[in-house]
Amino acid sequence: MVDGAYDLVIIGAGPGGYVAALRAAELGMRVACVDKEALGGTCLNVGCIPSKALLESSERYHQIAEGLEDHGIVAGTLQLDLAAMMARKSRIVQGMTQGIAGLFKKHKVEFISGSGSVPEAGVVQVDGKGGSQRLPTERILLATGSASAELPSVPFDGEYVISSTEALELKRVPDRLVVIGAGAIGLELGSVWNRLGSEVLVVEFMESIIPGSDPEISGLLERILKKQGLTFKLGTSAQEVEVRNGEVRLTIASKDGSDKWVAPCDCVLVAVGRRPMSASAGITALGVEVDERGFVVVDEHYQTSVPGVFAIGDLIPGPMLAHKAEVEGVAAVELMAGRAGHVNYGAVPNVIYTDPEVASVGMTEELAIAAGHEVKVGKYQFRANARAHCMDSTDGIVKIVADRETDRVLGMHILGPQASHLIAEGVLAMEFAGSSEDIARTIHAHPSLSEVIKEAAWTIQD
Ligand code: NAI
Repeated sequence: MVDGAYDLVIIGAGPGGYVAALRAAELGMRVACVDKEALGGTCLNVGCIPSKALLESSERYHQIAEGLEDHGIVAGTLQLDLAAMMARKSRIVQGMTQGIAGLFKKHKVEFISGSGSVPEAGVVQVDGKGGSQRLPTERILLATGSASAELPSVPFDGEYVISSTEALELKRVPDRLVVIGAGAIGLELGSVWNRLGSEVLVVEFMESIIPGSDPEISGLLERILKKQGLTFKLGTSAQEVEVRNGEVRLTIASKDGSDKWVAPCDCVLVAVGRRPMSASAGITALGVEVDERGFVVVDEHYQTSVPGVFAIGDLIPGPMLAHKAEVEGVAAVELMAGRAGHVNYGAVPNVIYTDPEVASVGMTEELAIAAGHEVKVGKYQFRANARAHCMDSTDGIVKIVADRETDRVLGMHILGPQASHLIAEGVLAMEFAGSSEDIARTIHAHPSLSEVIKEAAWTIQD
């Protein structure tokens, strides 16, 4: 090893990179983490966290706008101060960024600001404001994440055709917003702007929203969101966009092309997925193997085809989720340190923060059957739960998919209030290879939303 070299240099300070850096430091490695942007990556700066801040604020605004007279609360004139809402969001982001900086300091992780690349294995080059430097290192961990996918026929211009980044920063509430893609981003940000007063149309290529999720839940959510004011055009796609005198005209067509029409609007949010940043950081020039969809290929130790160069998170196959990147970061550095790092890919929760929230883990009924299981499905409604009534949030269901023979939980799917918190029970049950009977016989506090999970499990006991 070269004198003064690092044990590990990580490129990317998102949830994958910064969590890996902290774990590596805990394990005694000399670590540097390089990023050209602020600490926290997409998730903290322009993704999960700012969107949740706006979802929270817009939900409160919407609740008051809808009226709380039923609760005996009569509010005065309602006013929206969008600048203050945005400022609160930015303060949250800034506070969390400082928190990571504090953790880096405490654990002696060196943060190096600049654009990182790998000219050769064993070296990371950083091009920053103060010039370039070469960091010799035994191992390199690529955690450069992903970027919004662009639709070639509807290219981003940052003002009229925007990605989630700009949709978190709008200076005024658009009168009419068209969202392309009824996935996580489309439904979350569509909800934010709908609650704040925009007329929102969501264009989705597939025949249902959140394709791939439990069909009953996606159908229910569609109905609920429609009641909230969102409009959906399913089985359609955007063809082209034209901006004239500040008005956007988006041409939309049905899948078979038989039906075609123009949606005039103020702005179009393209939310059709994200693509791995595998063309960054000199990854291609280094000869790292990338699959046909652009994901970096890694082995069971998260090592790429170039020895000493590792990759995690959105760069490699699997769901593009912050918590998936985090656990991969931890596992990768633990394996580097000779420990038993492991990720249970069968138990990665997935959440969409609409109102009510959607959360799932494991297999849907359809997937479980396709995988050869004979299944039993327990279901229970939030409508039958006292706490949900007190919270004024009774829409939704819990579904538990269990193997008919072994009773092992194969999946849990929730549409309901605070589903993002509730799903932890399903994740833990699956992590412990639990059965639906384990859940049914576990004592759940009364009155609490978690009782819906217990009751769903009881419906499939003998
Ligand atoms: P997504 O993959 O969740 O949804 C994209 C949607 O766009 C799909 O329903 C797809 O069928 C549709 N689509 C694709 N091409 C289309 C076209 N030409 N016309 C109409 N519809 C089209 O991707 P999204 O929402 O952009 O999110 C990107 C990534 O970020 C995802 O992996 C997501 O899981 C992650 N994310 C996670 C969040 C969370 O955990 N709550 C929040 C936001 C994003």
